[in-house]
Amino acid sequence: MFPIISNNLIAPNLHRLVIRAPRIARACLPGQFVIVHADQQAERIPLTIADADIDQGTVTLYVQAVGYSTCRLVALPTGSSLRDLAGPLGHPTEITRWGRVACIGGGVGTAVLYPLAKALAEVGNQVISIIGGRSAELIILADELAQFSTEVLIATEDGSRGKQGFVTHVLQELITDPRSVPQAIYAVGPVPMMKAVSDLTRPHQIPTIVSLNPIMIDGTGMCGGCRVLVGGKLKFACVDGPEFDGHLVDFDLLADRLSTYRTAECQMLQQLAEKDRPTQRKA
Ligand code: NAD
Ligand code: FES
Repeated sequence: MFPIISNNLIAPNLHRLVIRAPRIARACLPGQFVIVHADQQAERIPLTIADADIDQGTVTLYVQAVGYSTCRLVALPTGSSLRDLAGPLGHPTEITRWGRVACIGGGVGTAVLYPLAKALAEVGNQVISIIGGRSAELIILADELAQFSTEVLIATEDGSRGKQGFVTHVLQELITDPRSVPQAIYAVGPVPMMKAVSDLTRPHQIPTIVSLNPIMIDGTGMCGGCRVLVGGKLKFACVDGPEFDGHLVDFDLLADRLSTYRTAECQMLQQLAEKDRPTQRKA
């Protein structure tokens, strides 16, 4: 069992969980993930390790409550325990000294971006962080990123903070100005965002690394659940990734596979809501 040290709601539907897992905290590197099993009924969920504290023996995870299993996970209170936590899994990020790097986070993907951006800054890269969300309340980790970024550029779709629009609108400005073109780009977020970023950087031949989040089951390369096509070759995100060259990823196939269980997921969510609804008493 893995004790939950804290569970805080930091944005609508988004929780920060600090879990006691000393072995994982000691071993993990930026870009790696864990597979969380909240309880016997919940599915196994892959979550990137956003932070680790070796002294406290804890790892930090950000969980967006969007499905049956993530709703069960965020409902676990501080002081309770996770049934299982497996990891660290996946290849760590290759931390290269590029020079100027743009790190782009879409919505909750910013939590995955954070440890990568920090590690890139620590080896001497000039990090420009670009983060986006639907509105100001969904912008996360801006202050934390500001501690090591040369700039934190924000985009919100409703214009309530930073530039109005998508993160790609900010990126477009950055790469069309010869003085600010980055030598590499890291992008983490929804599939349409990572696709849009890769489409934007391809003509400029800017190396673009994306972190993929396909459906995962075992996380060890045996079930094939996380298969993705990269440069026409079959890859398993759990053991070959999760980071890949964005210019080679088949994002349409990834989006299609991610939608496979949407109907079943909606039904499970409905069941969960009905179970939690107070029983109506007859007058
Ligand atoms: P969202 O849909 O609210 O989008 C967040 C931001 O991403 C937008 O505000 C915009 O700036 C950008 N974006 C979205 N679609 C875009 C497009 N077509 N073109 C350009 N930019 C676009 O995101 P959310 O609800 O916070 O995030 C949820 C999604 O993120 C889920 O699909 C989840 O699976 C994914 N996610 C991915 C990872 C990963 O490792 N890749 C990690 C966590 C979450
Ligand atoms: Fe099973 Fe990757 S999750 S092969």
